[in-house]
Amino acid sequence: MPVFPTLAAFFRRHKKKLLWTSAVGFSLYLLVNQFVIKRFRNFQNSLKQELLVKEQIRRRFIQTQQDCYLTILALLPVLTQPVLNFLPTEAITSALKRKKNTNKEMSDSLTTENLMAHSSQDIGGSTSDLSVFLSKSKLELWHDLKVKSISRMLALIYSSAGLLLLTRLQLNILARKAYLESAIVMAGGSVPQNSQSSFDYFIEQSYLSLSWWLLNHGWMRVANGLETLVESKFKEITPKTEMTVETFTQMLSEINAGVIADGQLVKNLLFPTEYDSLIETLMNTNPELVNELENKESNLVKLINETNFIIANDFTLHVFSSLVRSGVDTLGDSISVALNPDNVPGRVHKLATFLAQLSVQSSVICDPQNASEDEAGTGNIYINNFNDLDELDEFSASIYSNFE
Ligand SMILES: *[C@@H]1O[C@H](CO)[C@@H](O)[C@H](O)[C@H]1NC(C)=O
Ligand SMILES: *[C@@H]1O[C@H](CO)[C@@H](O)[C@H](O)[C@H]1NC(C)=O
Repeated sequence: MPVFPTLAAFFRRHKKKLLWTSAVGFSLYLLVNQFVIKRFRNFQNSLKQELLVKEQIRRRFIQTQQDCYLTILALLPVLTQPVLNFLPTEAITSALKRKKNTNKEMSDSLTTENLMAHSSQDIGGSTSDLSVFLSKSKLELWHDLKVKSISRMLALIYSSAGLLLLTRLQLNILARKAYLESAIVMAGGSVPQNSQSSFDYFIEQSYLSLSWWLLNHGWMRVANGLETLVESKFKEITPKTEMTVETFTQMLSEINAGVIADGQLVKNLLFPTEYDSLIETLMNTNPELVNELENKESNLVKLINETNFIIANDFTLHVFSSLVRSGVDTLGDSISVALNPDNVPGRVHKLATFLAQLSVQSSVICDPQNASEDEAGTGNIYINNFNDLDELDEFSASIYSNFE
């Protein structure tokens, strides 16, 4: 966590991170008018007060980031289960396995043992998928397995990174109001009484529930986009193609570069930035608030406006891209540990071996409790590495400090 040298320097430092062209409009709803801010600044001259305020802000900041981490762990099963069902690699593996039993001569050349080792879990509920896959040829099944295994791992990285980023964005916008008010009170200022009405509270909860979009539609848009990119990138790669872990992860990074270059896919993942998507999201979460969108003074409209503004910002895309890179690095490291623990340079493995590893790694990233005891026992290595990224704290801090 960053240590803030002085309160003023903290604000100055992070304000530069984002170019807030229309930030003035956004901050009005905070009830922090120029007058109150000025009073706040005057009181900063008192060193003792400043230290108190600084400590208070630091504690709240850290607490908010921790809340985000716990929120995403709680939502992880809700987020990942549909992705797993949408790209059903287990059903494909089962179909391949059956073909192998009935059609021995064709299967001898393919290294499937590794793959099968991880596919013994039940494929509950997907028997219909299975019959679709059983009607395909073995070659088609390998093609599907290749595209869907890789797309699935990437879709899991993208959607969990996206959910963490969105949660940081939303909770820091909401926490900013509370922390500013308390800082002002500590500095001897006053904030309007009953500034938090129950309707405000309802609006804030409704604003948070807009993550419905990411959980229900956003991930699927990105999964579809990824499937197309994976298909063309891995076109020439057969299950028997051999490559190093570095080559494999390099190919994944190149796919990511394509996604990031088309920023629209990332925006569509994170938030209902289009009007129709927003209406659909509200209809499914708080339909009574659809009319609220007409009211320009509504806190909901201001919150949505600021969120869209932040999501459209290049710095946000940069942070998202760092998260995805961290996910692919974690994947590469985990596969290396499994396949090449002695770090033998240039050691190659068949694509089939990588696909088996992807199956293991996709269960790790979906597991809210896959960290070893010495890593505090919560989360998993993917989410924990996301959460430790410096850029993510800078992102949070830039939202925190955007109040004038
Ligand atoms: C929302 O943002 C747009 C521009 O991005 C601006 O024209 C509009 O006035 C803003 N609305 C509110 C209520 O702040
Ligand atoms: C994490 O998940 C993997 C794969 O499912 C498993 O082999 C490993 O034991 C798990 N680790 C912990 C600490 O739960």
